[in-house]
Parts: sequence; C-alpha cells; structure tokens
Amino acid sequence: MENGGRVAAIAAPLLAFALLAASFALLPPPAFLSFGGAEPSAVGRERRREHFLRHVPHEPQKAASRMPAAPSTQPSAAGKVSVVGPIEEGLARSRAAIRRAARETPATAAESARRRSFKDAGDAFVPRGAVYRNPRAFHSYLEMERKFKIWTYREGEPPLAHLGPGADIYSIEGQFLEEMEDPRNPFAARDPREAHAFLLPVSVCNLVQYIYRLNTTAYLAPMRRMLADYVDVVAAKHPYWNRSRGADHIIVSCHDWGPLVSEGHRELYTNSIRVLCNANTSEGFIPRKDATLPEVNLADGLLRRPTFGLPPENRTVLAFFAGGVHGHIRKALLGYWLGKNKDPEMDVHEYLPAGQDYHALMARARFCLCPSGFEVASPRVVESVFAGCVPVIISNGYPPPFSDVLDWSKMSVAVPPERIPELKAILKGVSDRRYRVLRARVLQAQRHFVMHRPARRFDIIHMVMHSIWLRRLNVRLPY
Ligand SMILES: *[C@@H]1O[C@H](CO)[C@@H](O)[C@H](O)[C@H]1NC(C)=O
Ligand SMILES: *[C@@H]1O[C@H](CO)[C@@H](O)[C@H](O)[C@H]1NC(C)=O
Ligand SMILES: *[C@@H]1O[C@H](CO)[C@@H](O)[C@H](O)[C@H]1NC(C)=O
Ligand SMILES: *[C@@H]1O[C@H](CO)[C@@H](O)[C@H](O)[C@H]1NC(C)=O
Repeated sequence: MENGGRVAAIAAPLLAFALLAASFALLPPPAFLSFGGAEPSAVGRERRREHFLRHVPHEPQKAASRMPAAPSTQPSAAGKVSVVGPIEEGLARSRAAIRRAARETPATAAESARRRSFKDAGDAFVPRGAVYRNPRAFHSYLEMERKFKIWTYREGEPPLAHLGPGADIYSIEGQFLEEMEDPRNPFAARDPREAHAFLLPVSVCNLVQYIYRLNTTAYLAPMRRMLADYVDVVAAKHPYWNRSRGADHIIVSCHDWGPLVSEGHRELYTNSIRVLCNANTSEGFIPRKDATLPEVNLADGLLRRPTFGLPPENRTVLAFFAGGVHGHIRKALLGYWLGKNKDPEMDVHEYLPAGQDYHALMARARFCLCPSGFEVASPRVVESVFAGCVPVIISNGYPPPFSDVLDWSKMSVAVPPERIPELKAILKGVSDRRYRVLRARVLQAQRHFVMHRPARRFDIIHMVMHSIWLRRLNVRLPY
C-alpha cells in the first residue's frame, strides 16, 4: 500500500538519485568514472561531459590541461594518456575499490566486511539487510575512513563563521561545524594541499540571527553578500576555489533559508556541495551534487539515546502527530484530521494538551506522521526513528537523509500530500507482519541517527560526512 504512495511522492527524485549516487558502486563502471580506463562509449562520453558540465561549467574538458600540481600520466587501455593529479588518483582507487566490493558475492562480502570492521575493536558493526540499498557498496564508508580529508577554512570569525546553533531544530548546523573544528576530528586535513574537499564554515542560522533585519524589503541581500564575500576572500587568498570553481567546496546549513542564501554566489549555488535540511528538489536541490542534512530537534541541546518504545503489540494508536499549522501540507493534514473526520485512531493534534509527553506518545504509536512544514524537512523523521515509530513521510520532492545508503521504502511509508484523506486507509492497509518488518528496520537504522560529541563511526555526523564523500566521488577534477 505504501508503495503506491511513494511512487508519486519521492520515487522520481529517489530514482534519479539512486542511479546517480550508485552509479560508481552498483552498476558496471560507467564510462565517466573510468577516467584512465578504456575508451568510453558514445553514451559514456555524453554522460561524462554532462557530468563535467554540471559541476565545472567553464571549460569543462580543458580543465585537465590547466593542471596546477605536478601531473602524473597514466597510459590508458586505449593507448591514450590521461592526466590526473595525486588527489584524483587516490579517489579513482577508492571508486574502483567500491565497485569491486559492490560486486562481491554476499558470502565473500560478509567475510571481508567483518574483517575490515573489526579493525575498530569497539565496533564490529556490519551493514546488513534490506534497509541498506546495497550493504556491500557501503564499503564506501570504509574507504571514506581510510582516505577522506576536509580542509575547514580558517577565515572569518564567530559568530558568523566557525559557530552555529547547537540546540533547537537547526542544531545539526552548529553540531556539524563544531565537530569539524574539533581537533579530534579524524577527517580534518592537516594541510589544505592534502584535502579532497573544502568546508566554508559559515552558519546561515547565525547570518539570520545577526545580519537579518525584519524591516528590510530585500531581506536576503545582506546575508547573500556576507556569504559571497566569504567565498571571494578564500578564492583570492587560496588557489583551491578557482581550480575547481567551487565544485569540491561544501556548505552545510539547516536553516530554511540556506538554499536562498546560497544563491548569493553563483558558483557556490551551481557547483558546490550544498548540504541542506531544506532539500527541496523543486527549488534547485540536485541530489547528485547536494546532500540532505537530517533535521534534529535538540530542544535543550542535550544529546539523547534512541529508544525502542513500546513493542508492536502494545502500540495501540494507529498514527500520531502534533504540530502547528505551518505550510500547506500541515494545513491539509490538520484541516482534514482535526475537522469533521476526527478519528480516535488518528491521534492528531495542533497543540498537545498540557501534561502530555510528546516523545512518549510517539513511542506508543504505530506510525508517526512527518509532514513537511514551512519547508520540506521535518525533525519528526529523526524523532520517529528515535521512538521506534515507523515514519510516514508526507512531502513532495524531498529526498530523505542518507537515501544513497538507506532504502527508505523499506523502513517508512511515503504518502503524497494529495492522499492525506486516505491516510487511515493506507496505514490500516499495512499488514501486521509488514509492520513488524518495517519497525525492526527502523530500530536497525537508529545507529545512523544518533549524535555523539565527538562523532563516532556510523553515527549521524559521520553519515553526513559520508553523504559528502559520495558527492565528492561524483566529481572528477584534474589535481
Ligand atoms: C524599521 O522600520 C521602522 C519604520 O520604517 C523604523 O522606525 C525602525 O527604526 C526600523 N527598524 C530597524 C531595526 O531597522
Ligand atoms: C580567483 O579568481 C578571482 C576572479 O577571477 C580572482 O580575483 C582571484 O585573484 C583568483 N584567486 C587566485 C588565488 O588567483
Ligand atoms: C504490553 O501489553 C501486555 C498486555 O497486553 C502487558 O502485559 C505488557 O506489560 C505490555 N508491555 C509494555 C512494555 O508495556
Ligand atoms: C518546494 O518547492 C516548491 C517550489 O518552489 C514549493 O511550491 C513547495 O511549497 C516547496 N515545498 C515545501 C514543503 O515548502
């Protein structure tokens, strides 16, 4: 039943995404990834060009001849010579290793994954099961741990740079920046010359807090200018922005206005990896290049542990929601289920009655509704996962977080906003057996949504890092 809903709602972006994000891992090596390999087919050449065009719009193919670093030459199978630098060579090896792992037979893969993950004595986690799109391709995570280095620019001063909110609904923005600035961060490059990617440590939340004035009509302009100035400063001081036109640069923002503020710099908007909570594919979010940042509501700034909540047989409420009338989807949801169609099995509230515990209510509902609000993301997705409650994602054009790794159709229900009146029928249509499977997978995925400080393997911060890593692998640069 939920599959019908999913098709209309998020299948299109997800499908496009799965094809692109997985292209280096799941399919036979596409030509655009075999840079030094066999002569690409016509289709492959086309794809590769398109790929370059998207990320490096200026002089796409000539980039290789403007090599800044000492090039090394690699004779290809077709006898041609490809010129790439040491960073790109390392990335090419990672892509090859991921493709190899993705093709291993399940038995071999399980064996080698077990061997590899035991290198960390405290964590013998091996990804398994249908909740992963391809658990073997998740070898990409180990490649990331082995290799990925990010340089965080030192320019700028708090509070506009190097600092973001650590509490409330945008907390992931500040938590991520804090992790990147932490001297213990294993992904920090010691020197920008060894970096695969460059973080612009600007907080859109803090731009909003310190720059935005309620009065002004062109309210975005000053914030856009600040961000553009930051890019111009690092582009003038260092060679890294200009050599890729920002394609290996990252901005991380959870604020609703993150996408709008990022329009302040054209190259940043079109080329850079934008990691956004407000990941609306109808508003310029491109899943191959940009990554969905999970929204995490740390009301009091405290990091919490997930719970199992009540076992399935004790979950007596069919669906739970509590939240304000923010945006048209919430309006439709509350309008229908708080109106004359009020139903005791649909526990829907605008405001919770005093004394009710929001998280406890989630932990006793079978399904937790996660509709978009003023923008596409909802902190309820992570809250549901934490409460062991199967999320019901009600949105348009929203690729859920980590969907390159996690198969959300195996752990949630997607309902397009148009079908809000059918919600009860759709959820009733999920068999008890199917429900238990979905919920077990929610519990299995919990580890990827836990926030630690400092971050730990496979937790939410490192999964965000992994989303960035996959997008960096999608880009080929000559250095
Ligand atoms: C907002 O606009 C009003 C009226 O134009 C003005 O009196 C006030 O000083 C402005 N406030 C700010 C913070 O600019
Ligand atoms: C990068 O390009 C900009 C504009 O084209 C230029 O002003 C700047 O000096 C360049 N940066 C470096 C480090 O050469
Ligand atoms: C679940 O319900 C059963 C009775 O149906 C009860 O005995 C049990 O204590 C409940 N478990 C929890 C965790 O509430
Ligand atoms: C996503 O973007 C489209 C196009 O601007 C807009 O109509 C829609 O309301 C956005 N979604 C949400 C939930 O804000």
